[in-house]
Amino acid sequence: MPSIPTVTLNDGIAFPELGLGTYGLRGAEGVESIVAAIDSGYRLLDTAVNYENEREVGDAVRASPVDRAELIVTTKIPGRHHGYDDAIESTNGSLAVMGLDWIDLSLIHWPNPSVDKYVDTWRAMIDLRERQQLRSIGVSNFTEAMLTRLIDETGVTPAVNQVELHPYFPQAELRAFHAEHGIRTESWSPLARRSELLQEQVLQELAEIYGVTPTQIVLRWHVQLGSTPIPKSADPDRQRENADVFGFALTDDEVGVISGLERGRLWGAHPDTHEEM
Ligand SMILES: NC(=O)c1ccc[n+]([C@@H]2O[C@H](COP(=O)([O-])OP(=O)(O)OC[C@H]3O[C@@H](n4cnc5c(N)ncnc54)[C@H](OP(=O)(O)O)[C@@H]3O)[C@@H](O)[C@H]2O)c1
Repeated sequence: MPSIPTVTLNDGIAFPELGLGTYGLRGAEGVESIVAAIDSGYRLLDTAVNYENEREVGDAVRASPVDRAELIVTTKIPGRHHGYDDAIESTNGSLAVMGLDWIDLSLIHWPNPSVDKYVDTWRAMIDLRERQQLRSIGVSNFTEAMLTRLIDETGVTPAVNQVELHPYFPQAELRAFHAEHGIRTESWSPLARRSELLQEQVLQELAEIYGVTPTQIVLRWHVQLGSTPIPKSADPDRQRENADVFGFALTDDEVGVISGLERGRLWGAHPDTHEEM
């Protein structure tokens, strides 16, 4: 399979246009699945302290013959670790659990505005990047207002904002804001967590036209929106299917029709009110 293309983040790091979600990949089977994905060409791996599988991701990185420097290992600082000192400690903890010398991309997992410590957390991440423990820094589930506050108060623009994004929730306004500020969009639950999405007639029809699967149509749509999807699959065949979306292109009209499936967030978790510790 041809390699997954990359884009350049606002800090100069090459970032894959598609990666692997690892939520739920745990234990020896989880390690095996992650190694299989790397074997199939995945270079971006997405974990989090709260997924309780950072160890598995570190083990997979070591077990794979692919050079560590080619991989983009992402983890996330949980809500209970917000604040300057706690964020430093959280990162040291992640490095120790994964057994890695550096993390390629660290994200603030949720902004948790009622706690009001995400700016302090961000300051710690800026310093951790200076110390080369983090290569790239970003956020997850941030709104325009929260991004603006980070930029205004620290002068440092996140490289990435990882948000819920799929055809039921295309996030057009937030993506436009990202484009204006040089922030890369990353899509979580890009397949709407295998809800009824894949049965949508328009996706079935496009799959027929292009000789691919509805899943591949959805992932190609993300790529053409300029957002990096991180589909999770435990299965090597489905992992290969998901990564094989760089050999065809949808028309602009078709991209628009898929975006027309919009109906809102899957679980209504708005970052102004939904908080995760
Ligand atoms: N930042 C955040 O707050 C946040 C929140 C949620 C998720 N995430 C990240 O985003 C990643 C992806 O999101 P997600 O895991 O929620 O959902 P998802 O990737 O949209 O969907 C995963 C589901 O789809 C199935 N699947 C995958 N490929 C398939 C294919 N080709 N055909 C049919 N079914 C397929 C998987 O089953 P199999 O494994 O059996 O293939 C799994 O049940 C997570 O793993 C995590 O890394 C981040």
